[in-house]
Amino acid sequence: RVVAVIMVGGPTKGTRFRPLSLNVPKPLFPLAGQPMVHHPILACRRIPNLVQVYLIGFYEEREFALYVSAISNELRIPVRYLREDKPHGSAGGLYNFRDYIMEDDPSHIVLLNCDVCSSFPLPDMLEAHKRYGGLGTLLVIKVSAESANQFGELVADSVTNELLHYTEKPETFVSDLINCGVYIFTPEIFTAIQGVFTQRKDTANMRRMNSFEALQSATKALPVDYVRLDQDILSPLAGKKQLYTYETLDFWEQIKTPGISLKCSALYLAQYRYTSPHLLASGDGTKSATIMGDVFIHPSAKAHPTAKIGPNVSISANARIGAGVRLISCIILDDVEIKENAVVIHSIVGWKSSIGKWSRVQAEGDYNAKLGITILGEAVAVEDEVVVVNSIVLPNKTLAVSFQDEIIL
Ligand code: GDD
Repeated sequence: RVVAVIMVGGPTKGTRFRPLSLNVPKPLFPLAGQPMVHHPILACRRIPNLVQVYLIGFYEEREFALYVSAISNELRIPVRYLREDKPHGSAGGLYNFRDYIMEDDPSHIVLLNCDVCSSFPLPDMLEAHKRYGGLGTLLVIKVSAESANQFGELVADSVTNELLHYTEKPETFVSDLINCGVYIFTPEIFTAIQGVFTQRKDTANMRRMNSFEALQSATKALPVDYVRLDQDILSPLAGKKQLYTYETLDFWEQIKTPGISLKCSALYLAQYRYTSPHLLASGDGTKSATIMGDVFIHPSAKAHPTAKIGPNVSISANARIGAGVRLISCIILDDVEIKENAVVIHSIVGWKSSIGKWSRVQAEGDYNAKLGITILGEAVAVEDEVVVVNSIVLPNKTLAVSFQDEIIL
């Protein structure tokens, strides 16, 4: 039996995702027309003997209630949200709910960060984990040497795949092989986390006895019940024949910014060609808009037959796309209206926004740059014949004149 746990974080996390995370918890932001967290859940569904999926976070319960009940019905697998009263760190959060997780007596626990985009090769990873026979297996990938320091860098044995050395976001380069935030553990992981708690308590007691040292380290010490998976568990267990790695050669991205979410939307749309072709717009029939490349259109959205849409476009519920509109590489959220002959390129258009006739909302499409895509927050109105380039617009603004390279507060 396998239980999957997805760490979704909470409202104090995901600040780089603003203004899009002002309306919806980041894990529910749609990529390729489905909430971010939907993609790892679907991947978990492919694991044999999966009995339960838990989402653990510190968002309000009600923010996840609708999604969790809808997805449970759809997949016929119980999906449940467990709320932490405060952040306990990625391993502390898991430990907090060990009684729930162990209720189903799982032989394996699949643990995933919600903010990664991947093909999640979980069944193959589970097979590899069983062969290795360790406590845990990490999904890893090679990235460019310049970008590696944003992640956990690691060294693995090229023959046995054992994790030999692990450093979280090191200042000096260690390796271009990094931690993808996708793990398989045996239930002994709870003993390892318990070990960190015990060690913390002992150190805290020692400090109490030595008041000079207590003064020195009071600001540095983490709360006793805050345990990070990477620094507190992976680093000390590396090189002890307990942790192993499984390298993916498929796509992988970390989703920290709206720019990257646009790239990830494209990756998931491309994946639909193999996993869910019925979700891709075909453009067949005389009443349909012209479709180019991978496009998702929600069944309740309406696109005029003279609109030209794609590649990499996803259009959410109740959006209306007018005559002669051109959409390229963009995410159009619920209830958006795009009027006649407007153009949207490399942009995210927020809920209930409207774009006037002959207007252009566009960007260069550098997904890593701060203003590399244009973002309109919720309920932004771009009037007719206005041009917005490489800009971020906060919610509820009306733009009557054109802007370039600006953050409009
Ligand atoms: N429930 C809960 N409670 N979730 C948490 C908490 C917490 O206290 N703290 C973090 N998370 C969730 C985040 O939402 C995210 O999904 C995941 O745990 C990891 O977040 P961080 O601990 O902030 O780490 P990171 O995202 O900067 O880096 C981690 O992931 C990278 C891959 O994306 C590290 O494990 C890196 O080594 C790794 O490369």
